[in-house]
Amino acid sequence: MTSASLPLAGKHVVLGVSGGIAAYKSVELLRRLMDLGADVTPVLTRSALEFVGAPTFRALSGRDPLVDLFRADEPIPHTKLGQGADLVLVAPATANLLAKFAAGIADDALTTTLVATAAPVVLAAAMHTEMWLHPSVVANVKTIRARGFRVIDPERGRLAGGDVGYGRLAEPDVVIGAVLEELGGAGSTLRGRYVLVTAGGTREPIDPVRYIGNRSSGKQGIAVAQEAARMGATGALVTTVAAPAIPGFELVQVESALEMRDAVMSRLDRLDALVMCAAVADFRPAEVADQKIKRDGGAPEIKLVANPDILAEATAVLRRSKPEAVVVGFAAETIDALRHGEEKLARKRVDMMVVNDVTEEGAGFGTDTNSVWLIARDGSRSRIELAAKREVAAALLDKAFALDREPHA
Ligand SMILES: Cc1cc2nc3c(=O)[nH]c(=O)nc-3n(C[C@H](O)[C@H](O)[C@H](O)COP(=O)(O)O)c2cc1C
Repeated sequence: MTSASLPLAGKHVVLGVSGGIAAYKSVELLRRLMDLGADVTPVLTRSALEFVGAPTFRALSGRDPLVDLFRADEPIPHTKLGQGADLVLVAPATANLLAKFAAGIADDALTTTLVATAAPVVLAAAMHTEMWLHPSVVANVKTIRARGFRVIDPERGRLAGGDVGYGRLAEPDVVIGAVLEELGGAGSTLRGRYVLVTAGGTREPIDPVRYIGNRSSGKQGIAVAQEAARMGATGALVTTVAAPAIPGFELVQVESALEMRDAVMSRLDRLDALVMCAAVADFRPAEVADQKIKRDGGAPEIKLVANPDILAEATAVLRRSKPEAVVVGFAAETIDALRHGEEKLARKRVDMMVVNDVTEEGAGFGTDTNSVWLIARDGSRSRIELAAKREVAAALLDKAFALDREPHA
Protein backbone atom coordinates (compact mmCIF):
# COMPACT_ATOMS: atom_id res chain seq x y z
CA MET A 1 0.00 0.00 0.00
CA THR A 2 1.29 3.49 -0.73
CA SER A 3 0.94 5.92 2.16
CA ALA A 4 -1.78 7.85 0.25
CA SER A 5 -3.92 4.71 0.03
CA LEU A 6 -3.69 3.95 3.76
CA PRO A 7 -7.13 4.03 5.41
CA LEU A 8 -6.34 7.02 7.64
CA ALA A 9 -4.12 8.97 5.22
CA GLY A 10 -4.75 12.71 5.51
CA LYS A 11 -6.67 12.31 8.80
CA HIS A 12 -5.66 14.23 11.90
CA VAL A 13 -6.38 12.31 15.08
CA VAL A 14 -5.99 13.76 18.57
CA LEU A 15 -5.02 10.91 20.89
CA GLY A 16 -6.03 11.82 24.43
CA VAL A 17 -4.49 9.86 27.28
CA SER A 18 -5.81 10.14 30.82
CA GLY A 19 -4.31 8.82 34.03
CA GLY A 20 -5.15 5.15 34.28
CA ILE A 21 -3.00 2.07 34.60
CA ALA A 22 -3.78 1.27 30.94
CA ALA A 23 -2.07 4.48 29.78
CA TYR A 24 0.91 2.45 28.55
CA LYS A 25 -1.39 0.79 26.01
CA SER A 26 -1.97 4.16 24.34
CA VAL A 27 1.57 3.93 22.97
CA GLU A 28 0.54 0.89 20.92
CA LEU A 29 -2.58 2.75 19.76
CA LEU A 30 -0.45 5.69 18.68
CA ARG A 31 1.74 3.37 16.63
CA ARG A 32 -1.24 1.66 15.03
CA LEU A 33 -2.91 4.94 14.09
CA MET A 34 0.30 6.11 12.47
CA ASP A 35 0.72 2.80 10.62
CA LEU A 36 -2.74 3.41 9.16
CA GLY A 37 -1.54 6.78 7.84
CA ALA A 38 -3.01 9.12 10.48
CA ASP A 39 -1.31 12.28 11.64
CA VAL A 40 -1.55 12.04 15.44
CA THR A 41 -1.23 14.70 18.13
CA PRO A 42 -1.02 13.24 21.64
CA VAL A 43 -2.70 15.21 24.44
CA LEU A 44 -1.97 13.93 27.94
CA THR A 45 -3.49 14.78 31.29
CA ARG A 46 -1.15 15.55 34.17
CA SER A 47 -2.11 12.25 35.77
CA ALA A 48 -1.29 10.38 32.54
CA LEU A 49 2.28 11.64 32.91
CA GLU A 50 2.50 9.67 36.17
CA PHE A 51 2.07 6.49 34.08
CA VAL A 52 3.79 7.24 30.74
CA GLY A 53 6.46 9.68 29.63
CA ALA A 54 6.02 12.53 27.16
CA PRO A 55 9.29 11.64 25.30
CA THR A 56 7.80 8.33 24.11
CA PHE A 57 4.86 10.13 22.52
CA ARG A 58 7.13 12.82 21.10
CA ALA A 59 9.51 10.30 19.55
CA LEU A 60 6.76 8.17 18.02
CA SER A 61 4.40 10.89 16.81
CA GLY A 62 7.05 13.47 15.85
CA ARG A 63 5.01 16.06 17.75
CA ASP A 64 5.23 17.57 21.19
CA PRO A 65 2.46 16.09 23.28
CA LEU A 66 0.22 18.79 24.66
CA VAL A 67 -0.12 18.70 28.43
CA ASP A 68 -0.16 22.26 29.67
CA LEU A 69 -2.41 24.77 27.91
CA PHE A 70 -0.40 27.70 29.18
CA ARG A 71 2.99 26.49 28.06
CA ALA A 72 2.14 25.45 24.50
CA ASP A 73 3.92 26.92 21.44
CA GLU A 74 0.56 27.55 19.77
CA PRO A 75 -1.00 30.91 20.87
CA ILE A 76 -4.54 29.50 21.13
CA PRO A 77 -3.99 25.79 21.78
CA HIS A 78 -7.32 25.33 23.55
CA THR A 79 -9.32 25.60 20.34
CA LYS A 80 -6.79 25.05 17.57
CA LEU A 81 -6.38 21.31 18.12
CA GLY A 82 -10.06 20.54 18.48
CA GLN A 83 -10.95 22.57 15.40
CA GLY A 84 -8.36 20.84 13.22
CA ALA A 85 -9.07 17.30 14.37
CA ASP A 86 -10.92 14.74 12.24
CA LEU A 87 -11.42 12.64 15.37
CA VAL A 88 -10.55 12.72 19.06
CA LEU A 89 -9.78 9.36 20.62
CA VAL A 90 -9.31 9.14 24.38
CA ALA A 91 -7.73 5.86 25.44
CA PRO A 92 -7.73 5.14 28.26
CA ALA A 93 -10.58 7.32 29.50
CA THR A 94 -10.65 7.46 33.31
CA ALA A 95 -13.79 7.78 35.44
CA ASN A 96 -12.63 11.33 36.12
CA LEU A 97 -12.24 12.17 32.43
CA LEU A 98 -15.69 10.76 31.61
CA ALA A 99 -17.23 12.80 34.43
CA LYS A 100 -15.60 15.99 33.21
CA PHE A 101 -16.65 15.37 29.61
CA ALA A 102 -20.22 14.61 30.66
CA ALA A 103 -20.31 17.87 32.61
CA GLY A 104 -18.53 19.98 30.00
CA ILE A 105 -15.64 20.78 32.32
CA ALA A 106 -12.61 22.15 30.51
CA ASP A 107 -9.80 22.54 33.03
CA ASP A 108 -6.81 21.12 31.16
CA ALA A 109 -5.56 20.61 27.60
CA LEU A 110 -7.43 17.35 26.96
CA THR A 111 -10.81 18.33 28.42
CA THR A 112 -10.64 21.73 26.71
CA THR A 113 -9.89 20.07 23.37
CA LEU A 114 -12.84 17.74 23.90
CA VAL A 115 -15.19 20.64 24.53
CA ALA A 116 -13.77 22.65 21.63
CA THR A 117 -14.17 20.03 18.92
CA ALA A 118 -16.99 19.26 16.52
CA ALA A 119 -15.19 16.09 15.39
CA PRO A 120 -16.36 12.60 16.36
CA VAL A 121 -15.18 11.58 19.82
CA VAL A 122 -14.35 7.99 20.82
CA LEU A 123 -13.62 7.26 24.48
CA ALA A 124 -12.25 3.86 25.49
CA ALA A 125 -13.04 3.48 29.17
CA ALA A 126 -10.73 1.65 31.56
CA MET A 127 -11.06 1.45 35.33
CA HIS A 128 -11.69 -0.96 38.17
CA THR A 129 -14.99 -2.85 38.06
CA GLU A 130 -16.30 -0.99 41.10
CA MET A 131 -15.66 2.35 39.41
CA TRP A 132 -17.21 1.24 36.09
CA LEU A 133 -20.34 0.06 37.89
CA HIS A 134 -20.66 3.12 40.13
CA PRO A 135 -23.98 4.92 39.48
CA SER A 136 -22.22 8.21 38.74
CA VAL A 137 -20.01 6.60 36.07
CA VAL A 138 -23.00 4.74 34.61
CA ALA A 139 -24.94 8.02 34.41
CA ASN A 140 -22.01 9.90 32.86
CA VAL A 141 -21.53 7.24 30.17
CA LYS A 142 -25.26 7.38 29.42
CA THR A 143 -25.12 11.17 29.06
CA ILE A 144 -22.09 11.02 26.80
CA ARG A 145 -23.69 8.37 24.57
CA ALA A 146 -26.98 10.26 24.40
CA ARG A 147 -25.04 13.18 22.93
CA GLY A 148 -23.82 10.99 20.10
CA PHE A 149 -20.29 10.27 21.29
CA ARG A 150 -18.96 6.74 21.35
CA VAL A 151 -17.85 5.08 24.58
CA ILE A 152 -16.11 1.72 24.16
CA ASP A 153 -16.92 -0.52 27.11
CA PRO A 154 -14.01 -2.00 29.00
CA GLU A 155 -13.45 -5.74 28.69
CA ARG A 156 -13.26 -8.43 31.31
CA GLY A 157 -9.81 -9.52 32.38
CA ARG A 158 -6.94 -8.98 34.76
CA LEU A 159 -6.91 -5.54 36.39
CA ALA A 160 -4.33 -3.62 38.39
CA GLY A 161 -3.62 -5.08 41.83
CA GLY A 162 -4.38 -8.65 40.73
CA ASP A 163 -8.19 -8.22 40.57
CA VAL A 164 -10.18 -9.82 37.76
CA GLY A 165 -13.35 -8.28 36.33
CA TYR A 166 -14.73 -5.67 33.89
CA GLY A 167 -12.48 -2.71 33.52
CA ARG A 168 -9.63 -3.55 31.16
CA LEU A 169 -9.14 -1.25 28.21
CA ALA A 170 -10.66 -2.88 25.10
CA GLU A 171 -8.16 -4.65 22.82
CA PRO A 172 -6.34 -2.34 20.38
CA ASP A 173 -8.10 -3.88 17.37
CA VAL A 174 -11.48 -3.01 18.86
CA VAL A 175 -10.42 0.58 19.55
CA ILE A 176 -8.86 0.99 16.11
CA GLY A 177 -11.93 -0.63 14.53
CA ALA A 178 -14.12 2.02 16.16
CA VAL A 179 -11.84 4.79 14.86
CA LEU A 180 -12.01 3.34 11.34
CA GLU A 181 -15.78 3.12 11.52
CA GLU A 182 -16.11 6.72 12.69
CA LEU A 183 -13.83 7.95 9.94
CA GLY A 184 -15.46 5.83 7.26
CA GLY A 185 -12.16 4.09 6.53
CA ALA A 186 -13.90 0.78 6.24
CA GLY A 187 -16.93 -0.57 4.44
CA SER A 188 -20.07 -1.17 6.36
CA THR A 189 -21.49 -4.59 5.49
CA LEU A 190 -19.70 -6.28 8.38
CA ARG A 191 -19.55 -3.25 10.68
CA GLY A 192 -19.73 -4.26 14.31
CA ARG A 193 -18.97 -7.92 13.54
CA TYR A 194 -16.01 -9.76 15.03
CA VAL A 195 -14.53 -12.28 12.60
CA LEU A 196 -11.90 -14.82 13.63
CA VAL A 197 -9.88 -16.22 10.73
CA THR A 198 -7.18 -18.87 10.84
CA ALA A 199 -4.51 -19.13 8.15
CA GLY A 200 -1.53 -21.24 7.11
CA GLY A 201 -0.39 -24.77 7.71
CA THR A 202 0.43 -25.79 11.26
CA ARG A 203 3.97 -26.91 12.10
CA GLU A 204 4.18 -29.88 14.40
CA PRO A 205 7.53 -29.93 16.19
CA ILE A 206 9.77 -33.02 16.09
CA ASP A 207 12.71 -31.38 17.87
CA PRO A 208 13.84 -27.77 18.37
CA VAL A 209 14.75 -27.40 14.66
CA ARG A 210 12.45 -29.74 12.73
CA TYR A 211 8.74 -29.97 12.21
CA ILE A 212 6.13 -31.80 10.21
CA GLY A 213 4.34 -29.29 8.00
CA ASN A 214 2.13 -28.96 4.97
CA ARG A 215 2.02 -26.87 1.83
CA SER A 216 -0.55 -24.30 2.91
CA SER A 217 0.77 -20.76 2.26
CA GLY A 218 -1.88 -18.95 4.33
CA LYS A 219 -2.72 -16.69 1.37
CA GLN A 220 -6.42 -17.55 1.31
CA GLY A 221 -6.84 -16.98 5.07
CA ILE A 222 -5.00 -13.65 4.95
CA ALA A 223 -7.24 -12.63 2.02
CA VAL A 224 -10.35 -13.50 4.07
CA ALA A 225 -9.17 -11.33 6.99
CA GLN A 226 -8.30 -8.47 4.60
CA GLU A 227 -11.70 -8.63 2.93
CA ALA A 228 -13.53 -8.87 6.26
CA ALA A 229 -11.65 -5.72 7.39
CA ARG A 230 -12.52 -3.97 4.13
CA MET A 231 -16.18 -4.79 4.80
CA GLY A 232 -15.91 -3.11 8.22
CA ALA A 233 -15.36 -6.10 10.51
CA THR A 234 -12.85 -6.24 13.32
CA GLY A 235 -11.39 -9.51 14.52
CA ALA A 236 -8.30 -11.64 14.75
CA LEU A 237 -6.12 -13.47 12.27
CA VAL A 238 -4.58 -16.53 13.89
CA THR A 239 -1.78 -17.44 11.54
CA THR A 240 1.25 -19.69 11.21
CA VAL A 241 2.72 -17.52 8.44
CA ALA A 242 3.82 -13.88 8.43
CA ALA A 243 0.93 -11.60 7.53
CA PRO A 244 0.70 -7.86 6.88
CA ALA A 245 -1.01 -5.60 9.43
CA ILE A 246 -4.77 -5.57 8.81
CA PRO A 247 -6.74 -2.59 10.12
CA GLY A 248 -8.94 -3.57 13.06
CA PHE A 249 -7.49 -7.10 13.20
CA GLU A 250 -5.29 -8.55 15.90
CA LEU A 251 -2.50 -10.71 14.43
CA VAL A 252 -1.92 -13.81 16.51
CA GLN A 253 1.16 -15.77 15.49
CA VAL A 254 1.06 -19.48 16.27
CA GLU A 255 2.95 -22.57 15.09
CA SER A 256 1.33 -25.84 16.08
CA ALA A 257 -2.25 -27.12 16.07
CA LEU A 258 -2.28 -27.01 19.89
CA GLU A 259 -1.28 -23.34 19.89
CA MET A 260 -3.87 -22.59 17.23
CA ARG A 261 -6.53 -24.34 19.26
CA ASP A 262 -5.75 -22.20 22.32
CA ALA A 263 -5.82 -19.01 20.26
CA VAL A 264 -9.19 -19.90 18.71
CA MET A 265 -10.91 -21.28 21.82
CA SER A 266 -9.92 -18.31 23.99
CA ARG A 267 -11.62 -15.90 21.56
CA LEU A 268 -14.90 -17.76 20.97
CA ASP A 269 -16.93 -15.69 23.42
CA ARG A 270 -16.53 -12.52 21.39
CA LEU A 271 -16.84 -13.74 17.81
CA ASP A 272 -19.68 -13.43 15.31
CA ALA A 273 -18.02 -15.59 12.67
CA LEU A 274 -15.26 -18.18 12.56
CA VAL A 275 -13.54 -18.88 9.26
CA MET A 276 -11.21 -21.86 9.69
CA CYS A 277 -9.03 -21.51 6.66
CA ALA A 278 -5.85 -22.95 8.19
CA ALA A 279 -4.56 -26.36 7.20
CA VAL A 280 -4.37 -27.93 10.65
CA ALA A 281 -2.22 -31.05 10.74
CA ASP A 282 -4.25 -34.15 11.59
CA PHE A 283 -1.30 -35.68 13.47
CA ARG A 284 1.66 -34.51 15.52
CA PRO A 285 4.70 -36.31 16.91
CA ALA A 286 3.76 -37.94 20.20
CA GLU A 287 6.98 -36.68 21.75
CA VAL A 288 9.08 -33.63 21.01
CA ALA A 289 12.81 -34.11 21.55
CA ASP A 290 14.43 -31.48 23.82
CA GLN A 291 17.59 -31.46 21.72
CA LYS A 292 18.17 -31.74 17.98
CA ILE A 293 18.02 -35.43 17.02
CA LYS A 294 21.48 -36.46 15.77
CA ARG A 295 22.12 -38.37 12.57
CA ASP A 296 24.55 -40.73 14.43
CA GLY A 297 21.69 -42.39 16.29
CA GLY A 298 20.22 -43.66 13.00
CA ALA A 299 16.83 -42.72 11.56
CA PRO A 300 14.39 -42.23 14.44
CA GLU A 301 10.96 -43.74 14.49
CA ILE A 302 8.46 -40.97 15.02
CA LYS A 303 5.21 -42.02 16.59
CA LEU A 304 2.28 -39.78 15.71
CA VAL A 305 -0.84 -38.96 17.71
CA ALA A 306 -4.05 -37.30 16.55
CA ASN A 307 -4.34 -33.52 16.87
CA PRO A 308 -7.53 -31.96 18.17
CA ASP A 309 -10.13 -31.15 15.52
CA ILE A 310 -10.28 -27.40 16.16
CA LEU A 311 -13.20 -26.78 13.82
CA ALA A 312 -15.32 -29.49 15.45
CA GLU A 313 -14.40 -28.41 18.99
CA ALA A 314 -15.05 -24.74 18.34
CA THR A 315 -18.33 -25.45 16.55
CA ALA A 316 -19.55 -27.66 19.39
CA VAL A 317 -18.95 -24.84 21.89
CA LEU A 318 -20.48 -22.19 19.63
CA ARG A 319 -23.62 -24.21 18.92
CA ARG A 320 -24.27 -24.21 22.67
CA SER A 321 -23.11 -20.74 23.64
CA LYS A 322 -23.71 -18.72 20.48
CA PRO A 323 -25.99 -20.55 18.07
CA GLU A 324 -26.21 -17.54 15.75
CA ALA A 325 -22.43 -17.46 15.11
CA VAL A 326 -21.46 -18.19 11.49
CA VAL A 327 -18.95 -21.02 11.08
CA VAL A 328 -17.10 -21.65 7.85
CA GLY A 329 -14.79 -24.61 7.31
CA PHE A 330 -12.37 -25.37 4.51
CA ALA A 331 -11.70 -28.71 2.90
CA ALA A 332 -8.65 -29.21 0.72
CA GLU A 333 -9.18 -32.45 -1.13
CA THR A 334 -7.28 -34.31 -3.79
CA ILE A 335 -10.05 -36.66 -4.86
CA ASP A 336 -13.83 -36.51 -4.95
CA ALA A 337 -13.70 -33.03 -3.44
CA LEU A 338 -17.39 -32.22 -3.50
CA ARG A 339 -18.54 -35.44 -1.81
CA HIS A 340 -15.93 -35.09 0.95
CA GLY A 341 -16.94 -31.45 1.46
CA GLU A 342 -20.60 -32.37 1.85
CA GLU A 343 -19.77 -35.07 4.33
CA LYS A 344 -17.69 -32.62 6.38
CA LEU A 345 -20.47 -30.01 6.33
CA ALA A 346 -22.91 -32.45 7.90
CA ARG A 347 -20.48 -34.06 10.34
CA LYS A 348 -19.06 -30.82 11.73
CA ARG A 349 -22.37 -28.89 11.83
CA VAL A 350 -20.81 -25.84 10.18
CA ASP A 351 -22.76 -23.29 8.11
CA MET A 352 -20.63 -23.51 5.04
CA MET A 353 -17.74 -25.50 3.64
CA VAL A 354 -15.34 -24.05 1.12
CA VAL A 355 -14.09 -26.98 -0.86
CA ASN A 356 -11.17 -26.97 -3.19
CA ASP A 357 -9.53 -29.67 -5.19
CA VAL A 358 -5.90 -28.75 -4.60
CA THR A 359 -4.78 -30.75 -7.64
CA GLU A 360 -6.54 -28.28 -9.97
CA GLU A 361 -4.33 -25.88 -11.93
CA GLY A 362 -4.19 -22.41 -10.26
CA ALA A 363 -6.13 -23.57 -7.20
CA GLY A 364 -5.07 -24.34 -3.64
CA PHE A 365 -1.67 -24.04 -2.03
CA GLY A 366 0.69 -21.15 -2.69
CA THR A 367 -1.15 -19.69 -5.70
CA ASP A 368 -2.70 -16.22 -5.78
CA THR A 369 -5.86 -17.66 -7.32
CA ASN A 370 -8.33 -20.28 -6.28
CA SER A 371 -11.37 -22.08 -7.60
CA VAL A 372 -13.76 -23.47 -5.03
CA TRP A 373 -17.20 -24.83 -4.29
CA LEU A 374 -19.21 -23.12 -1.56
CA ILE A 375 -21.54 -25.65 -0.01
CA ALA A 376 -23.97 -24.20 2.50
CA ARG A 377 -26.19 -25.79 5.11
CA ASP A 378 -29.29 -24.46 3.33
CA GLY A 379 -28.46 -26.97 0.59
CA SER A 380 -27.13 -24.41 -1.89
CA ARG A 381 -23.94 -24.99 -3.82
CA SER A 382 -22.10 -22.40 -5.83
CA ARG A 383 -18.95 -22.61 -7.85
CA ILE A 384 -16.31 -19.87 -8.03
CA GLU A 385 -14.17 -20.40 -11.10
CA LEU A 386 -10.52 -19.39 -11.02
CA ALA A 387 -10.43 -15.99 -9.30
CA ALA A 388 -8.05 -13.98 -7.13
CA LYS A 389 -8.03 -15.19 -3.51
CA ARG A 390 -9.35 -11.75 -2.44
CA GLU A 391 -12.37 -12.26 -4.73
CA VAL A 392 -12.95 -15.76 -3.39
CA ALA A 393 -12.74 -14.30 0.13
CA ALA A 394 -15.31 -11.60 -0.63
CA ALA A 395 -17.69 -14.12 -2.21
CA LEU A 396 -17.47 -16.54 0.68
CA LEU A 397 -18.00 -13.82 3.30
CA ASP A 398 -20.99 -12.46 1.36
CA LYS A 399 -22.54 -15.90 1.14
CA ALA A 400 -21.80 -16.94 4.72
CA PHE A 401 -23.30 -13.77 6.21
CA ALA A 402 -26.31 -13.89 3.89
CA LEU A 403 -27.27 -17.39 5.08
CA ASP A 404 -30.52 -17.72 6.91
CA ARG A 405 -29.63 -16.69 10.48
CA GLU A 406 -31.86 -19.34 12.00
CA PRO A 407 -29.76 -20.65 14.88
CA HIS A 408 -28.66 -24.27 14.69
CA ALA A 409 -30.95 -26.67 16.53
C1 LIG B 1 -1.95 3.29 40.25
C2 LIG B 1 -3.19 4.01 39.84
C3 LIG B 1 -3.97 3.48 38.84
C4 LIG B 1 -5.15 4.12 38.44
N1 LIG B 1 -5.90 3.56 37.44
C5 LIG B 1 -7.04 4.16 37.09
C6 LIG B 1 -7.84 3.59 36.07
O1 LIG B 1 -7.49 2.56 35.46
N2 LIG B 1 -9.01 4.21 35.74
C7 LIG B 1 -9.43 5.35 36.37
O2 LIG B 1 -10.51 5.83 36.04
N3 LIG B 1 -8.66 5.90 37.32
C8 LIG B 1 -7.49 5.35 37.70
N4 LIG B 1 -6.73 5.94 38.67
C9 LIG B 1 -7.20 7.18 39.30
C10 LIG B 1 -6.88 8.39 38.42
O3 LIG B 1 -5.50 8.47 38.16
C11 LIG B 1 -7.37 9.67 39.09
O4 LIG B 1 -8.80 9.64 39.17
C12 LIG B 1 -6.93 10.90 38.34
O5 LIG B 1 -7.46 12.04 38.99
C13 LIG B 1 -7.37 10.90 36.89
O6 LIG B 1 -6.98 12.10 36.28
P1 LIG B 1 -7.24 12.38 34.74
O7 LIG B 1 -8.61 11.89 34.41
O8 LIG B 1 -7.14 13.86 34.60
O9 LIG B 1 -6.17 11.71 33.95
C14 LIG B 1 -5.54 5.32 39.07
C15 LIG B 1 -4.74 5.87 40.07
C16 LIG B 1 -3.59 5.24 40.45
C17 LIG B 1 -2.74 5.85 41.53
